[in-house]
Amino acid sequence: MTEDLVSDEQLAEQLDYYSRRAPEYDDWWLRRGAFDKGKAENDAWFAEAGLALGALQTAELGSEVLELAPGTGTWSVHLAPRAARLTLVDGSAAMLARNPVAGLPHVRTEIADLFTWDTGDRYDSVVFTFWVSHVPRERLRPFFAKVSSWLRPGGTVFFVDDSPASVAEPHVAAVAGQTMRRRLSNGDGATVVKNFYTAGELIDAAGRAGIDVQIGDTGRFFQFGVGHRR
Ligand SMILES: C[S@@+](CC[C@H](N)C(=O)[O-])C[C@H]1O[C@@H](n2cnc3c(N)ncnc32)[C@H](O)[C@@H]1O
Repeated sequence: MTEDLVSDEQLAEQLDYYSRRAPEYDDWWLRRGAFDKGKAENDAWFAEAGLALGALQTAELGSEVLELAPGTGTWSVHLAPRAARLTLVDGSAAMLARNPVAGLPHVRTEIADLFTWDTGDRYDSVVFTFWVSHVPRERLRPFFAKVSSWLRPGGTVFFVDDSPASVAEPHVAAVAGQTMRRRLSNGDGATVVKNFYTAGELIDAAGRAGIDVQIGDTGRFFQFGVGHRR
């Protein structure tokens, strides 16, 4: 499917979109504004979010934690109290500026492109939330290979992402192959990558990289993975 490959320009557009979305990003998670679907639907969302958070809370994170694409910190706030050192790597200064743990003494932040970033450091755990769906299919195996290389043997990986139900969200204008057209509240548009990987695809990509992962879902909204580097 060479016609469906994602270019570097598209990845740059995706990152730029998140910088522009930063001021309104949390409306999605907190079900505010256009994302407010009424009490029953919102409660269902928050209940499932709680299940995903529960999976993170029971995962062994160790003391040195790396969070990829932490954004405004919805999940960083649950990592920072458990880590002796937390490293946040995101390409958007605007997103990181809204991350409440970014200024803490034991938290290090780095603004970098995750499609080229690398480090010689090794971590007890690597966490990425609502990120793997933005990784192009042709980069999924290399991505997990990198994650594996950043983990100590026995280290933990945790991730969570949207289920395909998210195509019905109000900021989705169109879907085409592995990309999705998004709109901001001011009407501006942007194209992002959005892949709903199956459990089998994630298990395979992680497994090839030496990470044994188990995939769960919360029902309607979220899929999560917990695994360990062999
Ligand atoms: C869907 S948000 C997820 C944010 C957060 N993890 C959460 O759960 O809400 C995607 C994040 O990826 C970041 N991002 C997008 N492209 C990136 C890239 N090429 N390198 C690093 N970060 C990138 C965005 O700035 C944004 O913070």
